[in-house]
Amino acid sequence: MSKRIGILTGGGDCPGLNGVIRAATLHARTTYGWEVVGIRNGFEGLYEEEYIDLTPSNVASLLPRGGTMLGSSNRANPFAYPVKLPDGRVEIHDVSARCLDNLHKLDLTGLIVVGGDGTMSFGQKFIERGMTRVVGVPKTIDNDLEATDYTVGFQTAVEVVVDAIERLHTTAESHERIMIIEVMGRYAGWIALTSGLAGGAHVVLIPEIEYDPERVIAAFHHRHGRGVSYSIVVVAEGARPKGGGYSVVTPGDPTKQEKLGGAGQRLAEYIEANTEYEVRSTVLGHIQRGGSPCAFDRELATRFGVKAVELIADGKFGHVAAMENGHLVGKPIDKAVKKLKLVDPKGELARTARGIGIELGG
Ligand code: F6P
Repeated sequence: MSKRIGILTGGGDCPGLNGVIRAATLHARTTYGWEVVGIRNGFEGLYEEEYIDLTPSNVASLLPRGGTMLGSSNRANPFAYPVKLPDGRVEIHDVSARCLDNLHKLDLTGLIVVGGDGTMSFGQKFIERGMTRVVGVPKTIDNDLEATDYTVGFQTAVEVVVDAIERLHTTAESHERIMIIEVMGRYAGWIALTSGLAGGAHVVLIPEIEYDPERVIAAFHHRHGRGVSYSIVVVAEGARPKGGGYSVVTPGDPTKQEKLGGAGQRLAEYIEANTEYEVRSTVLGHIQRGGSPCAFDRELATRFGVKAVELIADGKFGHVAAMENGHLVGKPIDKAVKKLKLVDPKGELARTARGIGIELGG
């Protein structure tokens, strides 16, 4: 009887997920002759038993396609799952026992969990409850997983932001405006700082450095003093003024994380209330998560997909595929979930920004 592996994509989607599915399927099928079962919509598909057979032909044209052919859900936490009752009410239940039963029924040689910190922590909990044959592939545009230098989806998001910054440059200059662009990244400033450097921003505000709005305004005055009457400000959605909290749109609950938003508008209102500058604020939102993956993410997705299958073949369960100093390695899953990888406020990236006069607000 041929062996069978499973794969699911959980949490927020990002460009490159399809590349992981394609590479894992091709490698498992053609190198090892294993069957590959795709589990639909993250852990929801495991609970609902919604599966799809993955073959070289149905993954053939996936590489350039954004999103995930398996679907994803960032509310499918098997340990706090919203169950719809016959009377229409929704109750939060721990459905992990049923998911474990379904995993046993599938009789998998290994399960590849493609996800960010949330999805990986569910994988880790299944390992602790006895389903030990789990391996991971780290993905998130936020690039905030401690286990790896790069996550699938991050570079594409940066490309999208850099393109947007360039477009804002020309209109900012024409109208002599302060242009604020709010970008994703949750509690980490990787997208903001990397794209701010690559896009030539003048101010970059990240969650890791609480900002002083007066320093930001002083940076505009300084530019104006030199005869430059516009500025580009990249604000991470998790950026906070000194003594202030996160800008939260929707509070979190046991089934989902809090939703951030409004950090750019908050700064815009402060600048307009305290200066004569004309300010416009743009929220880039889910555009950063959509569309075709860039070349880097296609390559990384392919390498991670193959590595995940290798981890299963080598019996290195409980590990994630990871990039470390340019090399592909396997790292323990708990390394991916223990703590977030944040920008070091005194690290090389921040020093580079400061070195060329980018104001970081603190
Ligand atoms: O974690 C990825 C991410 O895109 C964050 O950058 C962002 O805060 C969040 O997901 C948005 O989530 P949702 O798709 O639920 O709006």
